[in-house]
Amino acid sequence: MANDSVSIHGIWASRWIFILAATGSAVGLGNIWKFPYMAGVYGGGAFVLVYLICIAMIGVPIMLAETVIGRRGRQSPVNAMRSLALQSGASPRWSLAALMGMVTGLLILSFYSVVAGWSLDYIIGMGRGEFAGIDGAGAGARFGALTADPWRLTLWHSLFLLVTAFIIARGVVAGLERSLRIMMPMLFVLLLVLLGYSLTTGHFGDGLKFLFHFDLAEVPDGILAAMGHAFFTLSVGVGSIMVFGAYMPKKSSIGATVMTVGLLDTVVALTAGMALFPIVFAAGLEPGGGPGLMFVTLPIAFGNIALGQLFGLLFFILVAVAAWSSAISMLEPAVAYWVERSGRSRALVTGVIAALCWVVGMGTVLSFNVLADARFFVSDADGWHLFRWTTEGGKTLFDSIDYLTSRIMLPLGGLLFAVFAGWVMGRDVVRAELSLRHPWMFPVIYWLLRVVAPVGVTIVFVAELLK
Ligand code: PFF
Ligand code: NA
Repeated sequence: MANDSVSIHGIWASRWIFILAATGSAVGLGNIWKFPYMAGVYGGGAFVLVYLICIAMIGVPIMLAETVIGRRGRQSPVNAMRSLALQSGASPRWSLAALMGMVTGLLILSFYSVVAGWSLDYIIGMGRGEFAGIDGAGAGARFGALTADPWRLTLWHSLFLLVTAFIIARGVVAGLERSLRIMMPMLFVLLLVLLGYSLTTGHFGDGLKFLFHFDLAEVPDGILAAMGHAFFTLSVGVGSIMVFGAYMPKKSSIGATVMTVGLLDTVVALTAGMALFPIVFAAGLEPGGGPGLMFVTLPIAFGNIALGQLFGLLFFILVAVAAWSSAISMLEPAVAYWVERSGRSRALVTGVIAALCWVVGMGTVLSFNVLADARFFVSDADGWHLFRWTTEGGKTLFDSIDYLTSRIMLPLGGLLFAVFAGWVMGRDVVRAELSLRHPWMFPVIYWLLRVVAPVGVTIVFVAELLK
């Protein structure tokens, strides 16, 4: 049942808690692990430029849209969209957009949990002093040994999901605030420590050049990747921000709040990139190192500075915590929906959904070892294949799920959310919910929401299809 001021799942004590929760959702592996390695794979500057444009023109407006829908609907994304659609005389089928978002969130969680598990393994490694004096080759070998071992990966994947499920089962409103209040500032401080180390490598300029020097000719390659990543990093297109919006107090201004979150996320990603690439260059490694980049380069830094093992330990603990606060937000839309729908306990619903994610996540675990030669989307000399056993080309299961979610499902979900807020809900409702401080801002943001974001996503999609 829709209600103006409360949701059955609880309410944040103030808008600050929403900022903490939404920042907790946004800041995660996407910033520290994925952004640097994607910038590496797509050649740096051009990718970063497109990424920043997508954040400002598409990502943040859609984040605003989601928050508006959530707070107005006061339920899980599926039910919020259904009831708001009915209220505006539109089709209840709009809720399918939120349903797709829910599935996207669970798919992302399935592999996110595996990668977050790596950071758990590195916590132990740092604690044991395994990285003292390590060089590029040694760090690469250690990472290779981890991903080659399905049992070790399974252990950490299971542990990560178990803790995520435990937090969600207790409810996101309880307990989240206290931990995030301490952890998020600590993450910033440790990133600055790393940045300080990068300055001492003598390659800081090379790092900056790689990240910010762009060549227009390189732009087309990474456009879709950059857009997909803008969605991923802001957690939009899933309904995570929407469901957190549903727990936001009535009086808070959505506009200022959401922009703060977008800004914090961007600052963390850029700082991570600036800290990481100088270390990559100093170690003589390749910037295009792929998913292992952070797990190979950072240990080199930590293994070779005074108190490095201690900083390293803290750092990987914080990466794990940042991943947890993101992971819970992927699970919440589905859990809230199932609780509303079935009336069953949160604990039971969470257990079942987390178990599903665990099973799908095992596909990612095995895609690094046992199933490394199982490839999807392969095109080779004798044509195009959806699936093939091969060592050449195509995508592993992990790459495929990442590709489907980031490149297709997130942008599609975000597009539908923006169109819903921009064209279905009505101008006065959106204006009242956003409650922007300066009157001139509303027309700009409303235009981004109604026109720029949907058109932008569509153009990038079409361009990709024609490629
Ligand atoms: N924004 C998170 C990150 O950058 O790590 C990832 C994420 C969280 C994606 C929540 C999607 C989501 F719904
Ligand atoms: Na992020």
